[in-house]
Amino acid sequence: MISKDTIERIVDAAEIVDVISDFVALKRRGANYTACCPFHHEKTPSFSVSPSKGIFKCFGCGKAGNAVNFVMEHEHMGYVEALKYLGRKYGIEVQDKDETEEDARNRLKSESIMAVTQFASEFYQKSLWETDQGISIGLGYFKGRGFDNEIIKKFSLGWAPSGRDTLSNAALKAGYKKEYLVSSGLSVERDSGKDVADRFYERVMFPIHSISGRVIAFGGRTLRTDKAIAKYINSPETEIYIKSKSLYGIFQAKSSIAKLQKCYLVEGYTDVISFHKAGVENVVASSGTSLTTEQIRLIKRFAPEVSVLYDGDPAGIKASLRGIDMLLEEGLRVKVVLFPEGEDPDSFANKKGSEELKRFLQESEEDFIAFKTRLLSGETKKDPLKRAQLISEVVSSIAVIPDAISRAVYIEECSLRLNISEEILTDEVKKIRKKKQYGAYGQLVADKPEPGMPQYFPPLETGEKLPGFITETYCEPAEKELLYYLLKFGEYKLYGTDNSDQTEDNHEKITISVSQFILNELQNDELELHNLIYKKIFDEYYKVREYGQEHIQKHFINHTDPEIVNVVLDLLHQEHSLTIKIFVESVTPEEQMLSVVVPKSILIYKAKITAIAYQEVCSRLAEAETAKDSQLQSQLLEQVQVLMHIRNSFSKELKRLTI
Ligand code: CTP
Ligand code: MN
Repeated sequence: MISKDTIERIVDAAEIVDVISDFVALKRRGANYTACCPFHHEKTPSFSVSPSKGIFKCFGCGKAGNAVNFVMEHEHMGYVEALKYLGRKYGIEVQDKDETEEDARNRLKSESIMAVTQFASEFYQKSLWETDQGISIGLGYFKGRGFDNEIIKKFSLGWAPSGRDTLSNAALKAGYKKEYLVSSGLSVERDSGKDVADRFYERVMFPIHSISGRVIAFGGRTLRTDKAIAKYINSPETEIYIKSKSLYGIFQAKSSIAKLQKCYLVEGYTDVISFHKAGVENVVASSGTSLTTEQIRLIKRFAPEVSVLYDGDPAGIKASLRGIDMLLEEGLRVKVVLFPEGEDPDSFANKKGSEELKRFLQESEEDFIAFKTRLLSGETKKDPLKRAQLISEVVSSIAVIPDAISRAVYIEECSLRLNISEEILTDEVKKIRKKKQYGAYGQLVADKPEPGMPQYFPPLETGEKLPGFITETYCEPAEKELLYYLLKFGEYKLYGTDNSDQTEDNHEKITISVSQFILNELQNDELELHNLIYKKIFDEYYKVREYGQEHIQKHFINHTDPEIVNVVLDLLHQEHSLTIKIFVESVTPEEQMLSVVVPKSILIYKAKITAIAYQEVCSRLAEAETAKDSQLQSQLLEQVQVLMHIRNSFSKELKRLTI
C-alpha cells in the first residue's frame, strides 16, 4: 500500500511528455506531440500526447491513458511497480505503508547495493572512454568486434582497469561503504579481512540490467587467451541479482519483443549485442546457464513465441532439449533456428549484416517439434528400437503442451512425419499426461464426466435428515476423505439432473462445484468437522476459494501454520481416494468420476457417523437397562430406531451409487 499522499505527489510530478520521452522519440506538432505508436506496428504516426491534458492516445490502436498508465502498458508493470518507477525518476520516496522493520532493512540494503552497482557501472564506462588503457585495450577490443560507439553506449559496456583495487578504492573514496561493496560482489575481502580487492580487473565489462533498466550485476570478459584464466567472470548472486530470474538484454529488448510478439533466445552477451547492431532487437540471452521457469515466465509476459537460436553443435543442442520442453510446458510457441556449422549468432550477424541476418532468421526457422523429429530421426535410420525411442521422445514433448488443440495439431503432423497412426500417438500422449497429473497436485484437466458414467442427482435422495444428537459423532477417516476431495477437486464441477421433484419427467440438468456440494450437504444436516485442523482448513477453504483450484492449493501449501501444511501435503500427494477403492484398477481418471464419487464419499461419511452413533446409543441403552432408568431407556430406544432406519436408507443409496 502506497499512501494517497505519495500517489498524488508522483502523479503531479510525472510530466507526461517527459515520462514518455524516455521510451519514445516524440515530435512536437502544435500544442501536442506525436510519434509512431509504441504499442502497435505502424509507419505513419498516430500516437499523440497532450501535455496540457496529461494524456496520450493512439488513434490507430486506441490505447490511451495518463503517465502512470503509459508506464504500466509500456513496461508491463503493475500499478504499484509503475508508481515506484516514477517515484524513483522524480526523487519521491515511495514507502509501503505496512512495511515491517525487516522489510525496511532489506529494502535499504538492496538500495545500497543498487547504488554501488550503479557507481561501478559509471566507473567502468568512464575508464573505457576516458583512460588511456581503456581506450587502447577495451575500446580497441570492442571496435575490433564490430561494435560502434552507439551500441557500446546502448549496452553501457565498460572497462575494468588492470589495477587490483582501482574500483574499490574509488568507491570507498566516493563514500560507499565497504560492507555494500562486498555484498554487491564487486569487491572481495582480502585474507586479513581488513582490505578489499576488486573482483573484476583487466576485463571488458557487460553490465546486466534489471527489467526496468537498473544495473544489477556484471559479466567481465578477459582479453587474454591464456586458458588458465576464466574467459568470463560474473557477479555472484546478491539481494538484487537472482540469476534464475534475470535475462541478459531484457531491458533493451522488451519493447521490441512486445511489439513483434516474439523473442529470440541466444546464449551469450555478444550474441545479443551483435543482433541489436544488425537491427534485430527482440533478443535475450540466458548467459550460458540452462533456462529456468522464472526466465520463461519473464519472456511470456511480453510475447507468446520464442525462437531458440543454436550454433551448429549437435551435442549442445541435445543437452538443451529439456530447456525447450520447459518452454512448451509454459505454453509458449517454440521455434528453432540452426546456424551453419562454425557460426554462432554473433559471428553470423557480423559477417552477413542486417538484411541477410533477418532473411536467414525467417527462412531457416523451424517449428520445434518438427525440428526435434528431424534431429533425432537422423540417427535412427531403420533400427526399430531407436525408432521407438524417437517416438517416445517426440511424444513426451507434445505431452507437456498445455493447450489441447495445439497438442492435436502436433499429433497430426507427427503422425505424417513418423508414419504412425494418430490414435497411437494420442494414446501415448494421454498416458504421459495422466501419469504427470497424478504426480503433481492434480491439475484441473478434465472435469466432464466420462461418457457413459452414471451421473449423480444432487441433492442426496435419502430424504433423511440426520437427528441433532448425531452431530457430536466423530469419524476421522471419513472427515479426511471429504477434505481430500475438497482440496484436490474443490472447484471441479459435478454434473447431474435435479430430480428432487419426482413428478417432473424432464429433469433439469444442473451443475454444482464440489466445494459447494460438500458445503450444502454438511449444512443441511448441521454437521461440522470435529478434527480441529481439518475444520480450520475446511473453514479457510471457503474464504479463499475464489482464487481458483491451483491457487487454493498453493495457498495451503505455503500456509504459515506448519500443521496445516503437513495435512494438506499429505492429502495432495495421495493418489486417489482411500475409502473408494475402485481407482486402483480403473483406467478412468478420478476427476471424471467426481459426479459419482463425491456424493458417495459424503454418503459414506454420513453412514459412518450414523453407525458410530448407533453403537454408542446401543451401549448407553445397555447401561440404562442395568441402571433400570426406564425414562432414559425409552428415550434411547427411540434414538436406536431412528438410527436403524437411517442406516437402511443409506445402504440402499450407497448401492445405487456403485459404478
Ligand atoms: N559464459 C560465462 N562464463 C564462462 C563462459 C561463458 O558466463 N566461463 C556465458 C557468457 O554469458 C557468454 C555465454 O556464456 O556470453 C556464451 O559463452 P561463449 O560462447 O564462450 O562466449 P561468447 O558470448 O561467444 O563470447 P566471445 O564471442 O567473446 O567468446
Ligand atoms: Mn562468440
